[in-house]
Amino acid sequence: MKKALLILTSLTLLASAAQARTWDDIKKSGTIKIATEGAFPPFNILKGKELTGFEVELANALAKQMGLKVQWVTQPFDNLLIGLNQDRYDFVIASHGITPERQKAVDFSNPHYCTGGAIVTKPGGPMTAAALKGKKVAVQVGTTYLENVRKVPGVGDVKTFPKDTDAQAALMAGRTDAWVGDKFTGLDLVKAQKGKVVQGDLLFKERIAMAVKKGNASLLKELNSQLAKAMSNGTYAKISTGYFGQDIRCK
Ligand code: ARG
Repeated sequence: MKKALLILTSLTLLASAAQARTWDDIKKSGTIKIATEGAFPPFNILKGKELTGFEVELANALAKQMGLKVQWVTQPFDNLLIGLNQDRYDFVIASHGITPERQKAVDFSNPHYCTGGAIVTKPGGPMTAAALKGKKVAVQVGTTYLENVRKVPGVGDVKTFPKDTDAQAALMAGRTDAWVGDKFTGLDLVKAQKGKVVQGDLLFKERIAMAVKKGNASLLKELNSQLAKAMSNGTYAKISTGYFGQDIRCK
């Protein structure tokens, strides 16, 4: 009995003492483990078996600069930061806006792009925050869109979906009056649905960054320096222009 208790205690101690891999550990292993959602086009999207998108290409380029192989992991958006704190991967790149709430749980790199949350609706629908009064709005769960839409005075039903693309589909099917999502994603939707939807106001702005486990300073430093390098050697501009026709770095 006593022995079992001892084993249990030491196991608990071991688990809580588990450490994120430092930059040195990662470099020695030759492979970096990166997590994303894979359902947030055009930033991270699993197309059949191929994981692609602006953030996937950017992270692959950073890893290449580091001389490392990449092992990608995909997780539902809402689980990404939890898995990071359980040491399941080294960092997350999944369009997380830097928020005070998230900063309590993880450490963020310098931003890899700047954007905002915008309203998309059918022609004649609500285009401004004021017009969202009493309206049904679709958003992805666990996002800054949810947080910010909830703050709109008098907003009607806020419906959450596990995936952003499901929230868009709810608007298209007429189950909600609006969808709030990333402004670049919204532009793509407007283009793809020619004339069926329009983009309204930007509700808020945000800086998007990669996340490491809280306290993993050595990896954070490496990511920041590789990002700066990609931003100065033309790599970042090339990938960004390829996806958006413009450079979306924070100005
Ligand atoms: N930028 C928003 C946020 O910070 C949405 C991110 C959603 N990302 C995703 N991979 N679905 O919450």
